[in-house]
Amino acid sequence: MLTGVFSLAVTAGIFLSLAVLLLVAERYLADYGSCVVSINEGSVEFEQPGGGTLLSALYDHKIFIPSACGGKGSCGYCKVVVLRGGGPLLPTETPYIGRAETKAGVRLACQIKIKEDLELRLREELLNVREFKARVASIRELTHDIKEVNLELLEPEEIKQRPGQYVQILAPGPDGPVFRAYSISSPAHEADRVQLIVRLVPGGIASTYIHGLREGDQVVFTGPFGEFRLSEQSEKPVILVGGGAGMAPISNIIRTIYRRWPRRPCYLFFGCRTTRDVFYRDDFLELSEQHPSFRVVYALSDPLAEEQQWDGETGFIHLSVDKLLPPAADRQAFLCGPPPMIEAVTEVLMKKGFRSEDIFYDKF
Ligand SMILES: Cc1cc2nc3c(=O)[nH]c(=O)nc-3n(C[C@H](O)[C@H](O)[C@H](O)COP(=O)(O)OP(=O)(O)OC[C@H]3O[C@@H](n4cnc5c(N)ncnc54)[C@H](O)[C@@H]3O)c2cc1C
Ligand code: FES
Repeated sequence: MLTGVFSLAVTAGIFLSLAVLLLVAERYLADYGSCVVSINEGSVEFEQPGGGTLLSALYDHKIFIPSACGGKGSCGYCKVVVLRGGGPLLPTETPYIGRAETKAGVRLACQIKIKEDLELRLREELLNVREFKARVASIRELTHDIKEVNLELLEPEEIKQRPGQYVQILAPGPDGPVFRAYSISSPAHEADRVQLIVRLVPGGIASTYIHGLREGDQVVFTGPFGEFRLSEQSEKPVILVGGGAGMAPISNIIRTIYRRWPRRPCYLFFGCRTTRDVFYRDDFLELSEQHPSFRVVYALSDPLAEEQQWDGETGFIHLSVDKLLPPAADRQAFLCGPPPMIEAVTEVLMKKGFRSEDIFYDKF
């Protein structure tokens, strides 16, 4: 018995040492030479010394793809189609890549190491994503943990965005700079600025950096990114459901709608824990007086005893959606907030007859 355990331990030890040796060899000895990365049938092509990740090679060549977790392999946003090269799919990629995507060659750019020539296919619009330099024009505290940050664009001076899209802010981290995604809350027609609504995540790298910014500081970001597509059909009702910093894309969509389609039906459902988390409510109630087709519903999930005066809804926001959203045929919904909220609201909307392709969401 003891001999069996001993030989098992020796075998495990040998495998472990080999794995460590391989890692060291890969890190310090492997020389993959110069590799050619070709994108969209050679419409963009560059040479890159092998060894680094595809994500950082693209960044070095000013090709900015979504990478909300900054290359940690935990967001699944940095998908590219690899037609040639790239090696086999890695276990770190499989949670984010479905069977059909695997067949189509979809990979996570942050997980692929460049060891040979690569042929890629990228969505054409990603080749137009730019790097921006901006100056902090003003900062406003919206709640105890959320700030509104207004950025004036310096270079380029204008951004072309669709409501609901996001940018990736470059923030200094303990192990080097990181990117994090933040939705644009200013409307698309205000092209010379970008407004963000950022919740402070305790110990979080980028949110701490953004909350520490002061007027006049310069920031760098890339963008715009994102798949939200607000329908151009002026009569199509829009349902917006959010919580916390999920207000950012929602604010952009509302302000875009009422500039372009003053009579478009739009419902805002916004979930807060207590009145400490409520912001923009008065602004939206005022807007709803100018545009009677705009309905505003705020709900407190955890009202304090002294909040008896609250004249909004109480309970989780998906319950308000269930109770107050009237039935209608053809509508679009945009959901932004924590994953449990998105899941609960999606279930309510599906029950109310929404088609899944009409429900857009960003979980954060
Ligand atoms: C498409 C998209 C749009 C987004 N838009 C916004 C936005 O408009 N405003 C905004 O404030 N955020 C937004 N986020 C979230 C944002 O990108 C960051 O994830 C968030 O600010 C935390 O980053 P950090 O660097 O501060 O924390 P990290 O340094 O990444 O994390 C530090 C620690 O906090 C935990 N953590 C990370 N995120 C959260 C979280 N949200 N809640 C609780 N714990 C967390 C991590 O597990 C880790 O332990 C968006 C995310 C996505 C994917
Ligand atoms: S950048 Fe997040 S998974 Fe690749």
